[in-house]
Amino acid sequence: MWHCDRVSWSLLCWCQVRHLTYDLYFLAPLAILAVCFFSLRYHEPELCSLKMIVTIDGPAGAGKSCAARGLAKRLGFSFLDTGALYRAVTLAGKRRGVNWLDAEALAEVAAAAEIRLTDDRVFLDGEDVTDEIRALEITTLTRHTADNRQVRERLSALQRELAAGRNVVTEGRDQATEVFPDAECKIFLTAADEVRAQRRYEDLRARGEQVTLAEVLEKQQARDRRDHEREYGGLQKTPDSLEVLTDGLTPEEVIDRLEEIVRSRQKRLPVVKTETMSLWYKFVRIWCRLACVFPFPCRVQGQENLPATGPILLLSNHLSHLDTIAIATASPRRLRALARESLFVGPFAWLIRSLGAIPVGSAGATLSSLRATFRHLENGTAMLIFAEGSRSEDGELAELQPGFTILARKKNPVVVPMAVAGTFEAWPRHRWLPRPGRMAVVFGKPIPTDNLGEISDEAFGGVVAERLAECHAAAKRLRG
Ligand code: DC
Repeated sequence: MWHCDRVSWSLLCWCQVRHLTYDLYFLAPLAILAVCFFSLRYHEPELCSLKMIVTIDGPAGAGKSCAARGLAKRLGFSFLDTGALYRAVTLAGKRRGVNWLDAEALAEVAAAAEIRLTDDRVFLDGEDVTDEIRALEITTLTRHTADNRQVRERLSALQRELAAGRNVVTEGRDQATEVFPDAECKIFLTAADEVRAQRRYEDLRARGEQVTLAEVLEKQQARDRRDHEREYGGLQKTPDSLEVLTDGLTPEEVIDRLEEIVRSRQKRLPVVKTETMSLWYKFVRIWCRLACVFPFPCRVQGQENLPATGPILLLSNHLSHLDTIAIATASPRRLRALARESLFVGPFAWLIRSLGAIPVGSAGATLSSLRATFRHLENGTAMLIFAEGSRSEDGELAELQPGFTILARKKNPVVVPMAVAGTFEAWPRHRWLPRPGRMAVVFGKPIPTDNLGEISDEAFGGVVAERLAECHAAAKRLRG
């Protein structure tokens, strides 16, 4: 009897535990879903520090590259080696056998060269030239590119483009004076002539170059003179730059000192509102990603071009209903998109609403949609706008509707051009249901908007159209 009781009691317990397990399997996802959904109510824009540009200028051999690279790493910023750009153009000129005294020809070389920088590599027309541009011959020849006004203008524009909307440590000669006069933190790094020459000498010897210290010192003095006397972009210490002397300091000590300066500046920076992803948004995004892996594999490029903080105006081409899903799952920032009013009445209306879409009339943006978009940009949202207004008829880029210029002018967001490819093939306008297919999303470099006050809507629209076409071509290539 006693034995029988024990057996039935154990069985009962086992059944209860099994039940509980089944309940948990069933209830846990529901609970997660509920928490994610209700998180919407309490989700507020975050307050983050404004993006920061740190310029490090100074004479050759002051240890700028090493210090700037180390500092960027410690701060989690991007590093921009502007000297490498001048060197890369010089290498391109040498390869094309350019006449160094022909300023026009050199400017053409600079315009044609495709230079790409990562934090530690330099690419010229797709080839890694990181070591080649450091050769003594290139160092000596670089004065021709550095003295050329057109080359300087082209490379300064490229530097602003590379830094737009990002936290950056940049080093060179003219960063605080010409390229980023409004930088949040400016440092002038220098050292005694002999110390600089000794460093450069050791550096060259380590790379197997046959030089003497006296030669290096002599060349350095000539370069210093040229850097100071250069008509455009000459080396100067601005009154708002902080001078740091690196004599007798180890590279680590220099980086410590610079980090201390930047962090104290950072504390005084204004904060900027940034709308981040709510739990619900993350939940839906992950599910969309998983659901799309097999039917719609998507390649993504240029996510680093989206600033981590502040308002963004993402201007895209529009091919299909799948675009918003492809872009939102590819974007590292939470997006809000404008959507046709008719979508807000169907079975998915609540979902579209919960993800923060903004309704627009069939004839285009209404006053209320414009107001909502303004409000979201003020809250630091990344707004996705399909610049053509409606889906493409043939998969190609149509004429842009100029409505986005008012958003760019009034709320001063970072304007990022982008494009999708492959969504038209998967689900074009005229088909009822999608079919599987490859896709690609490319986020382009932000379009500088500092000069927006001086140019017309048409001119700005022209720049956007050009950049969108570039992104679309890149997306098609990426899709393969
Ligand atoms: O920093 P570096 O030695 O890599 O620079 C190479 C050359 O480019 C040097 O002669 C100065 C020039 N330069 C310039 O004129 N302006 C810059 N912003 C960076 C470098």
